[in-house]
Amino acid sequence: GFLWWKTWRPKSFPPGPLAFPLVGNLLQMDFSGPLQGMKKLSEVYGPVYSMYLGSQPTVIVRGFKALKEILVVKGTEFADRPQNRLTRTVSHLKGLVVAPYGKTWKEHRRFTLSTLRNFGLGRKSMEEKIAEESAYLIQDFKKNKDTLFDPHCVINNAVSNIICSIVFGRRYDYDDSTFQDILHLVNENMKMTMGIWGQLYNAFGFIHYLPLPHQKILKNIDTVYGFLQRIVEEHKKTRTPGEPRDYIDCYLEELDKSALQGEEDNNNKKTFDNQNLSTCVADLFIAGTETTSATMEWSLLYMMAFPEVQEKCRKEIDKIRGDRTRLDYEDRVSMPYTQAVLQEVLRMASIVPLGIPHTNLKEEQLNGYTIPKGTIIITDLSSLNYDETYWKYPHEFNPENFLTEDGELRRVEPFLPFSAGPRVCLGENLARMETFLFFTGLLTHFEFHWPDPASPPDLTPVYALSQTPKHFKMCLVPRINDK
Ligand code: HEM
Repeated sequence: GFLWWKTWRPKSFPPGPLAFPLVGNLLQMDFSGPLQGMKKLSEVYGPVYSMYLGSQPTVIVRGFKALKEILVVKGTEFADRPQNRLTRTVSHLKGLVVAPYGKTWKEHRRFTLSTLRNFGLGRKSMEEKIAEESAYLIQDFKKNKDTLFDPHCVINNAVSNIICSIVFGRRYDYDDSTFQDILHLVNENMKMTMGIWGQLYNAFGFIHYLPLPHQKILKNIDTVYGFLQRIVEEHKKTRTPGEPRDYIDCYLEELDKSALQGEEDNNNKKTFDNQNLSTCVADLFIAGTETTSATMEWSLLYMMAFPEVQEKCRKEIDKIRGDRTRLDYEDRVSMPYTQAVLQEVLRMASIVPLGIPHTNLKEEQLNGYTIPKGTIIITDLSSLNYDETYWKYPHEFNPENFLTEDGELRRVEPFLPFSAGPRVCLGENLARMETFLFFTGLLTHFEFHWPDPASPPDLTPVYALSQTPKHFKMCLVPRINDK
């Protein structure tokens, strides 16, 4: 009786498939690609339905009306994050990405946004950093002009270098094997935490000490966080107070201020501390690397799958660039086609298909259902991307989806690749600047060809927190000879 009760839906809770005791719906889920299954369930139960992850009641939200309600209309009410064993192990209730809604998260989000701005986001210097990295990337690509080339590692490294330069004030050469190993572990964990072993570990703490695959997840976390912690410690030794070099130094300035403030002013006491610093550094490093480098890989793959789009894009790039060596970010406003292509890549690939889970601070109403406090809310952002009511070409890659009849860029309201509301992606501007500059830089210097006409590119994503393409190899043909 007791076990059944744990997975019985409360009165007026959203409907959903029958859940088994203890495991709930976990064993019914297809962890290699749950998106299709989630779509099928919504055809039976509606845009707001429920499942049990273990004994955790979980509500899946699909479609623009319900997503807007959760993210924007009741954005604050649903702005908390559910916690589980993995989030607590990784973040200790601190940092940015999975921090609970409240003073600590707010202060850190505000601090991070303003520090990103001070280090030049929206100004020239950030753009110059990206342009500089883009030049390294182009140089490396050139070395591979006569071979079949898998661009995954260098793209990942180049993209990561941008966030590294903001956060730690340095970049890593593409042949730095220590850094490549770290990137690889982050990559692996993005897939494993969303998989069955991550979920089982969350549901059943007793497996902690058993020699099962979740041990690999925990070991990877240790290695990556250890790497980052060493960088923080090094900063403490080498900094000059008053002259911050990067995000970590700016944070250490805040710690100095808090120390001076002393004990008496408890009400105004800031939430900055060493644990928050470590979690923020890791959050930025991970969130800033995976998503954006996946977007870059997808953009190249789609350009090879649709050579006529690649050519049209390059024409626009060449026209606007004129005799300059590269484009500025500002140029995008006169480049509707290129912007539409990058939007279309975000749509078709659904980079972060399910967003990051939200939860509600107290009982709420949604679509006529009662959502008890602390329910896990999964925002199926990918559900918007192929909805026949919003798109002219819902199931095909076609930049026209983002263009008006006159070829102007079209704003599509029900398209939320970065989510919306108080928890909206903190790196959206940075990500858009990076993808625009890297992408236009690469198309300026190379033509990309799919090597095997007999079997076209496989565009099925590898399901993860952020979806990547399957590994692929490509041919590149240099276009212009640089000095
Ligand atoms: C959160 C998408 C790049 C930092 C998110 C969320 C999505 C997302 C869907 C969840 C929002 C929610 O909970 O409702 C993307 C995509 C990217 C990208 C598609 C690239 C194409 C970046 C970059 C950074 C970043 C470059 C680094 C600065 C963050 C952070 C959060 C977040 C810190 C957590 C925000 C919070 O909880 O307050 N992102 N992101 N993202 N993203 Fe991004």
